[in-house]
Amino acid sequence: MDIAIAGAHGAIARHLTRLLVARGDTVRGLIRNPGHVDDLLADGARPVVCDLESALTPTVAEAIAGADAVVFAAGAGPGSTAERKLTMDRDGALRLVEAAQLVGVPRYVMVSAVGAEAPPEGEEVFDVYLQAKAAADEGLMRSALAWTVLRPGRLTDEPATGRVRLDVEPHRGEVTREDVAGVLDLVLHGQRAVGRVLYVNGGEQDPEAALDAAVR
Ligand SMILES: NC(=O)c1ccc[n+]([C@@H]2O[C@H](COP(=O)([O-])OP(=O)(O)OC[C@H]3O[C@@H](n4cnc5c(N)ncnc54)[C@H](OP(=O)(O)O)[C@@H]3O)[C@@H](O)[C@H]2O)c1
Repeated sequence: MDIAIAGAHGAIARHLTRLLVARGDTVRGLIRNPGHVDDLLADGARPVVCDLESALTPTVAEAIAGADAVVFAAGAGPGSTAERKLTMDRDGALRLVEAAQLVGVPRYVMVSAVGAEAPPEGEEVFDVYLQAKAAADEGLMRSALAWTVLRPGRLTDEPATGRVRLDVEPHRGEVTREDVAGVLDLVLHGQRAVGRVLYVNGGEQDPEAALDAAVR
């Protein structure tokens, strides 16, 4: 497969790139900082400098044209302002939806967050973050794309356990970023998660068995 990853220098994205490259996929990584080019090349991805907050939709579309799937793994990150939750986590993700539709990239997998199913109404940064995630998810789910929304619990930087739990109802646990990458790899290479919102946490099952259990 030819897969475009937005936010390709992020922690989940880099784990995912290495998994995809190891299985023979082609990865293009959208980054905003040209200083990250060498890291992406070392991971085996083709870097494409494309800032999702400032690029217009046709530019993003050009960056992903011909891909079989896009993954939104970008984020304004901890410590960022409420405004950037809107310009990045909401509008950047939605721009990628528009771009995928514009050039016929059929599949879109979103890294969202638990809590986006019922975002709080407040104006605190974390409230706005969840509102932004919710709006991005809703825009994707309304699109004609073959979508999957993954909503991890709290992310950790521990090594992969290879054991997760996937739920179709909200579940708040924690999960390693590397295990989230493993779930992304799995859902990208099959159709079972298309049209699904899956809550991703550490658990007892390998990703394949966890997906079977969640969608049966
Ligand atoms: N933290 C949690 O517990 C938690 C829980 C659930 C879900 N999530 C979500 O999981 C996702 C991935 O998490 P992660 O920890 O792997 O992310 P991360 O390491 O923070 O990486 C996010 C990436 O997005 C990039 N980015 C920021 N603004 C951009 C822009 N305008 N254009 C293009 N790329 C841009 C960043 O690039 P720069 O390096 O240039 O800034 C960074 O490489 C995020 O959407 C996050 O919100 C987090």
